[in-house]
Amino acid sequence: MYIVILAGGSGTRFWPLSRKSTPKQLMSVFGGKSMLQRTVERVLPLKPKRVMVVTNALQAAETRRQLEYIAGVPVDVIEEPVGRNTAPAIGLAASIIARFDPDGIMAVLPADHYIVDEERFRATLVKAKGVAQTAALVTLGIAPTRPETGYGYIEATENKGEEPAKVARFVEKPPLERALEFLATGRFYWNSGMFVWGACAILDQIAALMPELSKALAKLTFHQDLWEISDLKPQIAEIYAGIKGDSIDFGVMEKATNVQVIPASFGWSDVGSWSALPEVMEADQDNHVVIEAPGSVSVKSEGCLAYAGGKLVALVGVKDLVVVDTPDALLVCAKDAAQDVKKVVEELERRG
Ligand code: GDD
Ligand code: MG
Repeated sequence: MYIVILAGGSGTRFWPLSRKSTPKQLMSVFGGKSMLQRTVERVLPLKPKRVMVVTNALQAAETRRQLEYIAGVPVDVIEEPVGRNTAPAIGLAASIIARFDPDGIMAVLPADHYIVDEERFRATLVKAKGVAQTAALVTLGIAPTRPETGYGYIEATENKGEEPAKVARFVEKPPLERALEFLATGRFYWNSGMFVWGACAILDQIAALMPELSKALAKLTFHQDLWEISDLKPQIAEIYAGIKGDSIDFGVMEKATNVQVIPASFGWSDVGSWSALPEVMEADQDNHVVIEAPGSVSVKSEGCLAYAGGKLVALVGVKDLVVVDTPDALLVCAKDAAQDVKKVVEELERRG
C-alpha cells in the first residue's frame, strides 16, 4: 500500500500560531511532534511501499526537514507550486503511483487529524485495502455526534456494523437544515477525509468526472522506469498553471457510484479549530487547556484555552476564552467563536 498524505492546507483557524509556512500540520504544539510527523509514524507499522507527502512550495522545506528522521520507508515530498485543493493533489500522487505500479493501492490521509486508537486505525486501513482491491472507492466514515456543517456526509445503504457498506450518496458540507435531517435518519456518517482506492481506479473516476484535470495530469511524462520523481517539478508547475481548484469531495465523491464506506471506531478528531483542543488534550480541574505553561494560575475561571509560548498564564474571572500569545500577535476570542478566527486571516490578507 502507498500512503499519500495531504499536507498543503493552511489551517487558518489556528492563527496566530499557524502561519502560511507553518500551518496546523507542521505545528508541534499538540505535544512534541507535529501532526504530520505523527501521521507518518502512525502508518509505519503497516510497512507501506512509500509515503508520499503532497504539499505546497511554501511548506516544502519545513515538511522535508520534519521528515528527515523517518527511516525504513521511502518518503517523497511532492511540491505543488500553489494549492489547488485536494483533487489535483490526489490526482498527481495517483498518476505517479499508476505509472510505476499500475495495481498500486493508495490510502489518502489528511496530515492534520488526531486518532486515538492507532492499532485499530491500521486494522481499518488493512480492511479498506481489501475492499479497494475490488475496484471500489473506499471512504472511512465516522458516526456523527452533532450537525457539523464543515464535514461531508455519507449515506450508507445498510448498517453492517463495522463492515463495509455501499454508499447511497455523498453530500459535501451540507447546510445546517440538511445536516440535521441527515443526523435524524441515523444512516449517515461523517466523511473523515480518509480514502483508500487503487491509483488506476481513482484516475478512471477523475477521467470520467473531472475531464479537465484528467487531461492536464496526462501531460506528466516520466523518463525512468524506476521510481524517480525529482525531475517532475517543471511539469507539475505547467500542469498547475492550467487547472482550477476543486476538492475530491465535490469533484468525485459526490458523483461516483462505486463508493463503499467503512465505519471507523478508532476515535477521531480533525482538530478543526482552537475549540477542538479539549477533544485531543487533557483539561485541568477548571476545565482549562493551558498548553506548555507549567505553573499557570486559575482564579475563578473556567473552560479556557491558552497558549503563550512557554510563558506562565494567569486566568482570572474569565470563562470560555481562547487566548493565544505569540511574539507578534495576540488572539483573544470567545470559545464558541473559534471558527471565525479564519476571518482574522482573511482580513489581514486583504490589508496585504
Ligand atoms: N497538497 C494539498 N494541496 N493538500 C491540501 C490542499 C492542497 O491544495 N488543500 C487542502 N489540503 C489538505 C489539508 O492540509 C488537509 O490535510 C486535507 O487536504 C483536507 O483539506 P481541508 O481543507 O482540511 O478539508 P476540509 O476539512 O474542509 O474537508 C475535508 O475533510 C473533512 C474531514 O475533516 C472533506 O473531505 C470533508 O468531506 C471531510 O468531512
Ligand atoms: Mg480539514
